[in-house]
Amino acid sequence: MKAVILVGGEATRLLPLTCNIPKAMVPVLNIPFLEHVIRYLNEHQVRDIILAQGHLAKPIEGYLGNGSQFGVKLSYTAEDTPRGTAGAVKNGERYLDETFLVLNGDIFTDLNITAMIGTHREKKAKATIALTPVDDPTSYGLIETNAEGRVTRFLEKPSWSQVTTKMINAGTYVVEPEVLSQIPPQVNFSFERNLFPLLLEQGEPIYAYPSAAYWMDIGTPEKYLQLHRDLLSGKSSQHTFASGEEVLIGGQSHIQATAEVKGTVVIGDNCSIGGGVKLIGPVVIGSGCTILEGAVIKESIIWRNAWLGRGVKLKSSIVADNCCLNANSIIEGSVLGDRVTVGSSCKLESGSKIEPGTTV
Ligand code: GDD
Ligand code: MG
Repeated sequence: MKAVILVGGEATRLLPLTCNIPKAMVPVLNIPFLEHVIRYLNEHQVRDIILAQGHLAKPIEGYLGNGSQFGVKLSYTAEDTPRGTAGAVKNGERYLDETFLVLNGDIFTDLNITAMIGTHREKKAKATIALTPVDDPTSYGLIETNAEGRVTRFLEKPSWSQVTTKMINAGTYVVEPEVLSQIPPQVNFSFERNLFPLLLEQGEPIYAYPSAAYWMDIGTPEKYLQLHRDLLSGKSSQHTFASGEEVLIGGQSHIQATAEVKGTVVIGDNCSIGGGVKLIGPVVIGSGCTILEGAVIKESIIWRNAWLGRGVKLKSSIVADNCCLNANSIIEGSVLGDRVTVGSSCKLESGSKIEPGTTV
């Protein structure tokens, strides 16, 4: 079966991490997010994949190429201006002549798509939507169903007064190709706000596939951090970390004997961790990072080539590529875009979001 992964649109809620790279390329456990999704599809024998890109196309194609390295075949579409989720799929219509999958490109899930495809066929649905329960449905697409599991209502980003269920659109669909004819070409059209409500109005059989499998949308820094906490504590079956305490160290990386590691910590290649450094997991450090003596890193994600001076304190934060945190700086609950420099002894206000290339 073919799958379309939606990797375009705006990623404003994940800024400043997505100023220069698409959301699908943010590293998770030191590999681009999209690679996790492709490996997951491959596990389910879905190996013909169309990447519906927006304007930040180059980094994705440059990294994934034709997909052969990952055991899949990749095709690409791109948009000058965002076409919306359904418009993006319409854009790839030439590839889609039989039942296909659509996946939001910012979801990490253990959803059993093989079983979902089976249900779709059994019910003879025009489209089947995976559902997942969440505490706050207001930032998602709320879905009401009847006793037979048929979708009766689709309400994107409801207000609290409209919330009638905790079940939301999990961002994975099985779709019949004839549905494509309902999507107008060359315009912005959305599955959530346009196509699903239209199909329901027409009385088409749209079914739900509820699942309690692990699920996370990485669309905000908080959720991006939560995904790492979850993966490092073994909540997904796709990554098995031993409970609680574990260090994974990449090739050519060195940790001084006096460094202290607690919880689960993943360190990429070519890193140097100085004496007396404390790493208190969940922590992920990308390749090429230098952490000098006495730095304390707690519950944080650091991308590639960071330089952390002596005594730096970093907590509950995300640091994008090529940042420099000078000695004794204190960063908590913050998100640093790429190439940010933080001055010696500078204390960032909690909740700071620092634009790429800035010196603070
Ligand atoms: N190619 C392309 N073009 N892709 C797009 C476009 C577009 O114009 N707009 C959005 N996308 C991609 C995004 O990259 C993302 O992977 C996916 O489509 C969903 O867009 P988001 O912007 O992340 O939407 P959301 O998280 O607010 O809501 C969506 O996901 C929820 C689950 O996380 C909706 O589908 C909700 O109904 C759903 O509950
Ligand atoms: Mg999203």
